[in-house]
Amino acid sequence: MPKYFPYKKIKYGGQYVPETLMPALLELETAYEKFKKDAAIQTRFKDLLHHYAGRPTPLYYAENLSKKLGCKIYLKREDLLHGGAHKTNNAIGQGLLARFMGKKRLIAETGAGQHGFATAMIGAFLGMETEIYMGVEDIERQRLNVLRMKACGAKINPVEIRPGIGTLKDAVNEALRDWVTNVRTTYYLFGTAAGPHPYPTMVRDFQRVIGQEIKQQIKHHAGSLPKVIIACVGGGSNAIGAFYEFINDDVGLWGAEPGGKGIKTGHHGAAINCGCDTILHGSLSKALCDEDGQIKEAYSISAGLDYPGVGPEHVYLSQTKRAKYFPITDAQAIAGFKLLSQTEGIIPALESAHAVALAVEYAKKCQPDDIVVINISGRGDKDMEQVAKYL
Ligand SMILES: Cc1ncc(COP(=O)(O)O)c(C=O)c1O
Repeated sequence: MPKYFPYKKIKYGGQYVPETLMPALLELETAYEKFKKDAAIQTRFKDLLHHYAGRPTPLYYAENLSKKLGCKIYLKREDLLHGGAHKTNNAIGQGLLARFMGKKRLIAETGAGQHGFATAMIGAFLGMETEIYMGVEDIERQRLNVLRMKACGAKINPVEIRPGIGTLKDAVNEALRDWVTNVRTTYYLFGTAAGPHPYPTMVRDFQRVIGQEIKQQIKHHAGSLPKVIIACVGGGSNAIGAFYEFINDDVGLWGAEPGGKGIKTGHHGAAINCGCDTILHGSLSKALCDEDGQIKEAYSISAGLDYPGVGPEHVYLSQTKRAKYFPITDAQAIAGFKLLSQTEGIIPALESAHAVALAVEYAKKCQPDDIVVINISGRGDKDMEQVAKYL
């Protein structure tokens, strides 16, 4: 299991945490190695992905959108997964790992509420006490998911760094504080492919089923691999899950970063395009910084992409030029949201709408037979109140 993703002299990833957390990370690393080799638990994981979560999710040929954009568009329907987003894959995997380690309590951070809800679901299923940290701004803009978490019996801990201010970064900080204090009983179920090692690798492993299925399904439907796979990038879990199986293939890997109000305005979350090399939440990666190297606030219309950092493996893929990452503005994402809803009757999450918008850009240079796969990471019900004014 690689601790680092090396590029020239820089080693992205690693474990940059207070000494008090090191034993917990080492315990996690060791347990995960055992978990991977335990045949019974791996069978249980696959069984739950199938019967509880509803995998495999369909790969749907979007005929109307294809006609409109002038190439062959397939949608990987993670929006149809139980819970409404890809986050369920990782929550089931880490939930089982927590149990395997004998932990009694789950904690998690959440932005869009999808990871919080996935953790609440699995906490209820496993009969574990579950607490979710969530920024006050996100509690306001993702109210439906807050109610869904409560319905599953999870406790929500609002995080407010200044009056009315608090998003995903702040929720991660609070969850880390809780973990340091309660490390013996508590498992920190991290929601994205970032954070200290082994989280980026572990979350990728739990999400790579997305790409494995895409590969099988596209060969079956289209008889060849796609020209490109497009996914949105917050911390990077749905994107690395969709990309990983294709790393050694001749397939383009394109990530949509949150371009917010536009890169020039400074109000965005495009960590790969605009970030500096720095440490955030326990790993060396790229994150938005000011002139003094302090982490800057991110901004995105979509709570799940409103994060100043990104997972280290994406930085590695970008630096080695294996994958490309493009900022997509709020306005483009809203246009993508409406386009998919109105051509196919599929309402994407605002996060996934960034990937749709990037596909619109990509399609401008495509030939009619080019195959494009868009990972629809989640469904848009949670965003309806927020987009109401654009409808
Ligand atoms: C539907 C959906 N897609 C994407 C993301 C972004 O996360 P990641 O980059 O880890 O896939 C989120 C985060 O909450 C989400 O809810």
